[in-house]
Amino acid sequence: MLNQIEQLKQQLLADVLVVKTLPQLEEFRVRYLARKGKIAELFDGMRNLLPEQRPDIGKALNELRSLAQSKFDEKKALLEQSEKRVEARLDLTLPGRQRWVGSKHPITQAWEEIRRVFFGMGFTVTLSPEIEDDYHNFEAVNFPPDHPARDMQDTFFITDKILLRTHTTPGQIRVMESQQPPIRVIIPGRCYRNEAISARAFCVFHQVEGLYVDVGVTMTELKGTLVAFARQIYGSDVRARFRPSYFPFTEPSAEMDISCTICGGKGCRLCKFTGWLEILGAGMVDPALYQYVGYDEEKYTGYAFGMGIERVAQLLYGVDDIRIYYENDVRFLQQF
Ligand code: DAH
Repeated sequence: MLNQIEQLKQQLLADVLVVKTLPQLEEFRVRYLARKGKIAELFDGMRNLLPEQRPDIGKALNELRSLAQSKFDEKKALLEQSEKRVEARLDLTLPGRQRWVGSKHPITQAWEEIRRVFFGMGFTVTLSPEIEDDYHNFEAVNFPPDHPARDMQDTFFITDKILLRTHTTPGQIRVMESQQPPIRVIIPGRCYRNEAISARAFCVFHQVEGLYVDVGVTMTELKGTLVAFARQIYGSDVRARFRPSYFPFTEPSAEMDISCTICGGKGCRLCKFTGWLEILGAGMVDPALYQYVGYDEEKYTGYAFGMGIERVAQLLYGVDDIRIYYENDVRFLQQF
């Protein structure tokens, strides 16, 4: 019988190790400690013993029972404690966790609006390098050698001849170098200028260039295209006007104004009480550019335009300090 007790003890010690939950612990209790459990069964068996065997067996059984009881108590305390810890972790009164949903940067959104409109008019998108050479950024777009824009003051030079493009206009040259008319593209991208930073000027900004070259392209088409663009972006009652201007790469050149998107033309702070907002530069491609790319200047004519994406975004979203587009402040970005 002492053997049986020892076996049961080993069994019990092994069983208690695999108890991981309170219901399993209850099974353990029923198996060993209950009134019909294995230990009670052995106590019952004592009836068949000789009187002189009883004290030793009784003592061993009592020890086994208190071992079982203490293993049970230990495990119970442990399991109850960890259950409490789970409860503490599961505070149902806590507010839910918010998941942050990203959004497109307002500059991206403005660009996508611009692209949508020009896609609708048959333009395609082409990219052009941000790191340019002097030839494409200045020379081939007809800037005279002593033009002030070529100055270190305005341009970030990397070497004598390599620079960060100051506008997307060199993209016109790159497109014309690589294909023959008809050409109808828009070229978006980041541009860089060494400017004193203010609410209206930043060292990085974005432009979209447009170029259309074919047989018989006219200034009238340029105006029609740009007015249609403005109406699609700013609403069908927007009015537009063209003022003569000067750019080295277009002749004639113009700047386009639209009626103020805030006051509708009556005059306000945004339009500086003129009723008009300048939104882009444009013109007929200067035939000098065709010489650089080897186009027949007698055969082809074309128009070009260029606009600042920050400006478009400013008028769409009413953000009047352009620096904020580059700060990546989520309080700003979340609003778009
Ligand atoms: N490149 C000019 C600028 O940076 C913008 C521009 C004006 C582009 C007239 C053009 C254009 O294509 O025709 O300010």
